[in-house]
Order: sequence, then C-alpha cells, then structure tokens
Amino acid sequence: MKLKEQINNKLSMGLLPTPIDLMSRLSEYYGSNIFFKRDDQTGSSLSGNKIRKLDYLLYEAEKKGADSIITCGALQSNHSRATAIAARRRGFEPHLILKGEMPSIFDGNLLLDKLLDSKIHILSPEEETTYDQKMEEVAEQLRKEGKKPYIIPLGGSNELGYMGYYRAGVEIQEQEKEMGIVYDYIFCAVGSGGTLGGLYLAKLANDWDRRIIGVNVVDTAEKFQEEIKEVLDQLIEFYELEVSISQEEIEFQDGFVGPGYGIASPEVIDLIKMVAQKEGIFLDPVYTGKAFWAMDHLLKSGKIAKGSNVLFMHTGGIYSLFPHKELFSD
Ligand SMILES: Cc1ncc(COP(=O)(O)O)c(C=O)c1O
Repeated sequence: MKLKEQINNKLSMGLLPTPIDLMSRLSEYYGSNIFFKRDDQTGSSLSGNKIRKLDYLLYEAEKKGADSIITCGALQSNHSRATAIAARRRGFEPHLILKGEMPSIFDGNLLLDKLLDSKIHILSPEEETTYDQKMEEVAEQLRKEGKKPYIIPLGGSNELGYMGYYRAGVEIQEQEKEMGIVYDYIFCAVGSGGTLGGLYLAKLANDWDRRIIGVNVVDTAEKFQEEIKEVLDQLIEFYELEVSISQEEIEFQDGFVGPGYGIASPEVIDLIKMVAQKEGIFLDPVYTGKAFWAMDHLLKSGKIAKGSNVLFMHTGGIYSLFPHKELFSD
C-alpha cells in the first residue's frame, strides 16, 4: 500500500485542520516568531494529540469487527481518557489499564474515565506485570466472554498510530504554503514517541527539511531515538519509501524531565503561568509545560537565533492541570 492511500483510511473524529496561531506577546518576549499548532483544539473533551492517532486506530478496530477497546497509561493518562471518549462515541466498550493507586475522589482525566463508565483495571506500581501483559490478560478474559477486543498500545504509538502525526506533518506543510512561512524549528513533547515519529515520517517521505525537536518528558532521548528509528524503519520498508534515517538524526533536547515523569519543577509551573497570562492558553505540567521549558531554554540561551520562526506543537493535556491543583494554589 502507498502512504498516499493509507492517509485516507481513517475516521474523522478530530476537528481538523487545527489552526496555527502567532503568539504575539510571547514573540515579543523571546525576540523570535513563536507560533502554536493548536492541537489542544482538536475537540473539547476529546482534545489533544491522541485523537489524530485514534482516527486511524479505531477505523481499523471497526474494520476488524471489534466491540471493545483496551488501552493503558498512568492514572491521569490523557491517552486513556481520549481513547475512552472515542470508544464510547463509536459504540465500543472502553477498558483502561491504569497504573497507580485509585483515589477515593476522582479528578481530571480519571473523573472523565469514570463518567464514561470505562472498565478500569488497576495496575499497582509495585506489580511486575507490564502494560502489554495486562492488556493481553484482559483481552483473553473478554474473548472468553465472547467479546472482540482491540488492543491499542501505550500512547497509541504503533505503526498505525504514527499515521496521525504523519498527517499532521502534511497539514503543517500545507499551512506553511498558505501562510508563506517556513518554520525553522518545530518542538513537541515526547511521551511514547508517536507524535514526533509521525512528524519525522512526514519529513522523510515528503522531503520536508525542517528541524523537528522532541522533548522527552520521561526516560532518555537515546531510548526514544532507538524506538522511533525502529518504527520508522518498519514504515519505510512497508511503504517502500526510498529514504533512510539514523538514530542521531532524530533530534532531541534531553534534560527537561525535571524531578520525574508527571512531576513538574518550579520552572515549569512559572512557564505555565506565563503562557496563560500572556496568551490565555493553558499548558500542562506533564507534557507541554516541559516541552515549553526546553524551548524557553534554547530561546533564552541564544541557541535559537533571534528572529527565527518557531512552531510549538500544543498537544493538549488541559485535564491534567486539575489533579495538580496544589501546585497552582497559593
Ligand atoms: C498532552 C500530551 N502531549 C504530548 C504527549 C506525547 O505524545 P506521544 O505519546 O505521541 O509521544 C502526550 C501523550 O503521551 C500528551 O498527553
């Protein structure tokens, strides 16, 4: 199959294309032209980057005749919440494997998961079982009950999920032409790799020569470079693309995980407040806040030349602000 055909094998749940907005006050502050790709606007409850991947993944689930969807993530996973909403919208039963301790009062993404009556299977952080093993266990149980489960891996970042951000890359290329702008840098947060990996697929397949920089919010850049290269190699072979990529060519800005996954440093909190107060846009403490922190560092240290055109992928995450409310309370 050709990439050009595969791009259309999808649902259309996301409100696409999302706009690219110039942030005029941030641009003045940094002395560069700061643009936001508004993927926080792909929908209201079903907002953020995951919907682009789910358009492809649930299309396949429907074609396979599935009746239930299984996925996984941290207790406050944006991906799990988006999958549960999309599943209900398409008439599937959502099953979520969530890592953490179940609180007595629900908040943020978890509150929405519960409102959707998602079937929640808790994976205790002490358990040795992996997400994949637990998803397979739940799938086996559902099959025994006569159901047809469809498994979506962590963050929806498999070969099919990559299509979502391949398509976003094509969309940005079209917007560059319409706006008469070339983005010197494109930044995005990396949690499972599908957003960055999909953009790199667009870069490779469409000869789109841009510096696309991932900011890992967990683990190391090296781990993601290895994983993303592996998926890209499979896609290059499958779609018979005459291109290649080395691990080092997948650009990262490492060192901005802070105290750990899901834990924001004071710099991130201050930047979330600054962006809200200058532009009326909310970043989150787990993903976009940390990606913005890395970008802020490169802009302020002069590693990005003044006057550059910089595109920040705002990939959503607003609901994870609420369970972190103590960080923002006086
Ligand atoms: C708000 C937000 N931004 C960015 C990411 C990272 O995307 P990816 O998992 O494709 O690396 C995620 C999910 O992991 C997310 O929820």
